[in-house]
Amino acid sequence: MSDLPEPMPAGYRSQAVTKADAQAVHRLVTVCEHELLGRAVTGFDRVAADLGAPAGEPAPDTVLVRDSKGRPVGWVWVKGRRARVHVHPEHRGRGLGRSLLDWAEARAGRSGADRLSQSVSDSDEAARSLLRSSGYFPLVTEWLLAIAMPVEPEVPKPPSGIRVRPFRPGDERAAYEVTEDAFDEWQSRRQTYEEWARRTVERASFEPGASPVAFAGDRMVGVVLSIDVPGSDEGYVERVAVRNDHRTRGIARMLLRQTFRTFYDRGKRACTLWTHTDTGALSFYEGIGMTVRRSATVYSKILTTGEQPAVPARR
Ligand SMILES: CC(C)(COP(=O)(O)OP(=O)(O)OC[C@H]1O[C@@H](n2cnc3c(N)ncnc32)[C@H](O)[C@@H]1OP(=O)(O)O)[C@@H](O)C(=O)NCCC(=O)NCCS
Repeated sequence: MSDLPEPMPAGYRSQAVTKADAQAVHRLVTVCEHELLGRAVTGFDRVAADLGAPAGEPAPDTVLVRDSKGRPVGWVWVKGRRARVHVHPEHRGRGLGRSLLDWAEARAGRSGADRLSQSVSDSDEAARSLLRSSGYFPLVTEWLLAIAMPVEPEVPKPPSGIRVRPFRPGDERAAYEVTEDAFDEWQSRRQTYEEWARRTVERASFEPGASPVAFAGDRMVGVVLSIDVPGSDEGYVERVAVRNDHRTRGIARMLLRQTFRTFYDRGKRACTLWTHTDTGALSFYEGIGMTVRRSATVYSKILTTGEQPAVPARR
């Protein structure tokens, strides 16, 4: 089977993607986000991180579609059980989304995945209907939570025996252990250090100053990792985790409120983060004053038999 989707709808051609295409892919993603959400939400370095191949080499997991004038109009990314598909708003309704989805399923199947999932904004009717008609079922709800900061956020004192300071070089491995140990409570596969670092501390927009870490003695027990998305007037929290033997002592609330304060001091007047059904943390975030701004649904499809289970499997 070809490594590119085929056949493509008339007038379009697909190509492998290298790091040199990252700007084109990012522009395409942000055009789609503007159309759907009224603002760009994906930073350039997130796209660059997804195109993880060394410079010059085609990334094995992505395909870019161009129209007859060479303009980028569609993109698919698939890794393990997860996929993302974007089609330029002016090129919808021509079968591009289905071609890219078919390719993602074939690609995931060949790499041994038994199911494929993708997250779609609940306001994206076209994508939801494509997925439903392609055999996908809703699996998990994701929420974008936000907190407005019209005045300087107050920061509670650390619980007794807990010391807090901003993230600094050398904290990477301990922060990886704390966040991945905590996320292992619900995630299906632990990320390697390299995967984790590419999406967090190695991003150009990672903001150590707004990423407080908590210690009990010399052991890191809590961490918030933040992103300062270029051009955004909002701070973004990428990871929150507290070691399970230090839970419900107020450590996460204190770290998050410290993060909000730091972003406030830098002129931001809101902070956002994503959470989802599996974390069970929605009411925790609501309890510290965050509210749901929008939601998305993870749709999933079983690839091996084509039959859907009576009780949907977790991701
Ligand atoms: C979610 C998490 C970060 C909370 O950390 P924590 O340090 O225990 O939270 P805090 O002690 O600051 O909790 C503050 C308040 O929220 C409550 N709370 C904590 N976790 C909660 C949860 N999962 N659901 C509902 N309430 C919760 C606490 O009881 C406390 O309530 P109080 O104000 O009445 O005292 C932690 O459970 C964790 O690391 N989970 C695994 C990783 C994860 O899912 N992270 C979030 C990814 S989006």
